[in-house]
Amino acid sequence: MQSAAAVVLLLTCLTWTAAILHHGGQTVQKTLRYLLEPPVYAEVSARRGANATLPCLLRSRPPHYKVRWTKVEPLPRGLQNVVLVTNGHAHKAYGPLARRASLRRAHPLDASLRLVNLELEDDGQYRCELINGLEDESVVLTLRIEGVVFPYQSSSGRYKFTYRQAKEACEAQDATLATFHQLYRAWTEGLDWCNAGWLKDGTVHYPILHSRAPCGGDHLLPGIRSYGPRHKTEDHFDTFCFTSITSGHVFFVDERLSFTEADRVCRDKGAELARVGQLYSAWHFRRLDRCDGGWLHDGSVRFPITAPREHCGGLPNPGVRSFGYPDQTERLYGAYCYG
Ligand SMILES: *[C@@H]1O[C@H](CO)[C@@H](O)[C@H](O)[C@H]1NC(C)=O
Repeated sequence: MQSAAAVVLLLTCLTWTAAILHHGGQTVQKTLRYLLEPPVYAEVSARRGANATLPCLLRSRPPHYKVRWTKVEPLPRGLQNVVLVTNGHAHKAYGPLARRASLRRAHPLDASLRLVNLELEDDGQYRCELINGLEDESVVLTLRIEGVVFPYQSSSGRYKFTYRQAKEACEAQDATLATFHQLYRAWTEGLDWCNAGWLKDGTVHYPILHSRAPCGGDHLLPGIRSYGPRHKTEDHFDTFCFTSITSGHVFFVDERLSFTEADRVCRDKGAELARVGQLYSAWHFRRLDRCDGGWLHDGSVRFPITAPREHCGGLPNPGVRSFGYPDQTERLYGAYCYG
């Protein structure tokens, strides 16, 4: 009984803290008259392709009002960020999310936002705002797409991507540029990487778990090292990409193949060479474990390890290992196909 109470108390504190954080320090806790706060849950997490509901409940209905849902961050530049507006009777959805957004309307006080077939870009914060002409009020909720962050380097070497090239490189690997939150979370889950990469907001960072001299110094505490915002067309770095679960599967073809042969073998099986994001996704979500290097779509050779063992790359932690971009005529590797 006591422990149940403690759990409830802990949950309350967590939600409360989240509510404060989400206001970015601008609004101190004020009691809302119409909107339920804290919201039922301040963070909703789901995988790509799933459906999610962001809760927003009215405690009572003012005589005239609108509820407006907006995406707060990360804000795609130049895009309309209003997602949906309702006046309690009818609603209309706007912008890139319009086709996939609707109201749950489980009852007359329910203004919860429903998003279907989630995409990687849906990750971020949303605001539910009650507008009644007098004292508008709002709550902010986080939609977290469950996924995996991976570092990515150009085939022409270290630090070759402008911001735009980094974005395109992630997209070509079935991923998006990672946000700072996603990189931060990946760091808490074990990502240690000593090459700086672009993030979605145009800043450059890298995550360090084991402090060492070449990676920001061995006196610094473990953490995310920051180069701050960088010049998007003149500066060059690697990139951090983010991806989530895929509908298809990755499988290994155990033959000794050149890159061209690997590409053909996958096509013969009605598949194609896997993208780096798809291999990471299979490793993260389906625990793919294979001690053989295989060609991928971008000409790199990698293999996914979930149960580290000595004769399998030698590293103590799970991860996707890379042989870089070998000579494409070498017949030393198999193929990872996606279909
Ligand atoms: C999401 O919702 C749509 C429409 O309500 C439904 O057809 C679909 O099966 C749902 N998808 C999942 C993954 O539950």
